Amino acid sequence: MPRTALRATLFDFADDPLRSEHAARVIEDGLLLIDGGRIAARGEFAALRDALDADDELLDLTGCIVAPGFIDTHIHLPQVDVIASPAPGLLEWLERHTFPVEAGYADPAVAAEAARFFLDELARHGTTSACVFGTVHAASVDALFAQALARDVRLVAGKCLMDRNCPEPLRDTAEGGVRDSADLAARWHGQGRLGYAITPRFAATSTPAQLALAGELARARPDLYIQSHVAESLDEVRWIAELFPDARSYLDVYDRVGLLRERAVYAHCIHLDRDDRHRMAASGALAAVCPTSNLFLGSGLFDFALSLAAGMRLALATDVGGGQSFSMFATMRSAHEVARLKGVSLGALQLWYWATRGAAESLGWGGRVGTLEPGAEADVIVLDPRATPLLARRTERAQSFEELLFALIVLGDDRVVRETYVAGRPSRPKAYPFE
Ligand code: GUN
Ligand code: ZN
Repeated sequence: MPRTALRATLFDFADDPLRSEHAARVIEDGLLLIDGGRIAARGEFAALRDALDADDELLDLTGCIVAPGFIDTHIHLPQVDVIASPAPGLLEWLERHTFPVEAGYADPAVAAEAARFFLDELARHGTTSACVFGTVHAASVDALFAQALARDVRLVAGKCLMDRNCPEPLRDTAEGGVRDSADLAARWHGQGRLGYAITPRFAATSTPAQLALAGELARARPDLYIQSHVAESLDEVRWIAELFPDARSYLDVYDRVGLLRERAVYAHCIHLDRDDRHRMAASGALAAVCPTSNLFLGSGLFDFALSLAAGMRLALATDVGGGQSFSMFATMRSAHEVARLKGVSLGALQLWYWATRGAAESLGWGGRVGTLEPGAEADVIVLDPRATPLLARRTERAQSFEELLFALIVLGDDRVVRETYVAGRPSRPKAYPFE
């Protein structure tokens, strides 16, 4: 493969902006050299230009930003067909819209078509990694992993475990569901850049027996991920208290069976108490904050101040289709708005960190993705700050790089993403419809 050299403004993070005033690394006129799926060099264009060979492909993207691809820490494959369906709350939304559509994924051809669309859509939005829920059907995850492997995407996914409180066609059994999960992990975990996640959908749709078996698998396989939902809506929290009267809290239902640990990703984490937040922090689990979903479904407002004060690990997520957008720009903007409603102002750098390097580090991928450091995997995006007339007008007036980023967050969408490199290969679909 010839090497690709991108001349642009380079932007990534050296650290968490919460910890360091100098967390952002910006090279105004930079050069990023990609060689065989990895970043080979990055620096000032003037300093690196002489290191280029005659057959290197040099792309002059002056005026654009080259940055690590976004990481979406919580999203549902089958919900590409559910997105934009209104309901008076989470539980009604699951019942009316989500479960009926997920039943269709018993057909592997349906799953394969959706997986193609889904991976294209991630790439179109500049998202290079995601933690994905399939359906209850193992074949939905086989379909997704097969195509993610062919595209060499760094992806985590799992089949939903759900053996109660859902329509019969979506129900597995405690033993069968966990056995299917172990089999999927054996087939896919560690292949290419794939990771398997033990995926109890949420405590309401798993019997205590199934959660206990999921916990056993999690203990036996500390290398696997875990993903689920917790404390999303108040109706849901009340229901969980009825279903698990002995648990101290909703989070405790997972904790006491061994499902709270590093490499565990819990979506929402809105209606937690002080002890829960400290347990999240101590366990090393990641809270996937899903603000577009929480606003759309009316679930509640994530409390950034209390979560950060407790030391919780945070990252951002779209939660498509509870969330209305694949875009991490829309997600960052909603995170800003949700924080504002709680009296907190989140800056552009903090939001962007949680959508890139912060997510990577919490998932154990530090140094591999979410960074432009030489040696890292070349999952990078090219962003055009003049993608629309309004963006061009606003970003031209930006007095600082952070101000420009903030305008991108508020005004940006998939039109800003000019290219998405996945393992060094251009991967953004060029037009719709496409095969
Ligand atoms: N809780 C259980 N299942 C789901 C789901 O599919 N989406 C959301 N947002 N919450 C859930
Ligand atoms: Zn979800």
